[in-house]
Amino acid sequence: MKKIVIINGPNLNMLGKREPNIYGNATLEQINAELCAIGKEKKVSVETFQSNHEGAIIDKIQEVSGKCAGLIINPGAFTHTSIAIRDALLLIEAPVIEVHLSNTYKREAFRHKSTISDIAAGKIIGFGASGYFFALKTLIAGISVKNGHNE
Ligand code: DQA
Repeated sequence: MKKIVIINGPNLNMLGKREPNIYGNATLEQINAELCAIGKEKKVSVETFQSNHEGAIIDKIQEVSGKCAGLIINPGAFTHTSIAIRDALLLIEAPVIEVHLSNTYKREAFRHKSTISDIAAGKIIGFGASGYFFALKTLIAGISVKNGHNE
C-alpha cells in the first residue's frame, strides 16, 4: 500500500489553543483524523508525526526515506532555522510538500526565509488546514512533481 507521511514540527501540537486568529480553531488531532480518513477512503496509508524536537523530526525523516510515496512537512519555526532538517529531506526521493497554515510572507521578516522551499516539490501557505488536505489529495492523485534537489 502506498504510504504518505505527514510531519509537523514544534508547537503545532498546540493548534486550537495557539493563536487561533492566525492558525485557526482546529486541533492537530482533528486535522490528522481528517487526513487519515482521506487516506482510508483512497486506500493509502497515512502516517502522521509531530515533535517539538528537531532531532526527533530528523530521525523520522531518515526512518521513512525510501519507504514513502510522498512527504508533507510543516516544520513550524524550524522552517526558518534548520539546515539539519533540510539535509535530512535531501534523502527523500518522493515528492516533499512544504505546508504552512499562515501566510508567512505577511508576517515578521524572520518568517520569510525557509531553509527547505528550494528543495521541496511544492509549497502551500496561508490556507490554514486546507493546505494539508490539498497536499495529501495531490500526492494521492500521483501528481508528477519533482523535488528541487531531484530536478
Ligand atoms: C508555521 C509558520 C511558522 O513561522 C511558525 O513558527 C509556526 C507555524 C505555519 O504553519 O504557519 O510554528 O509553520
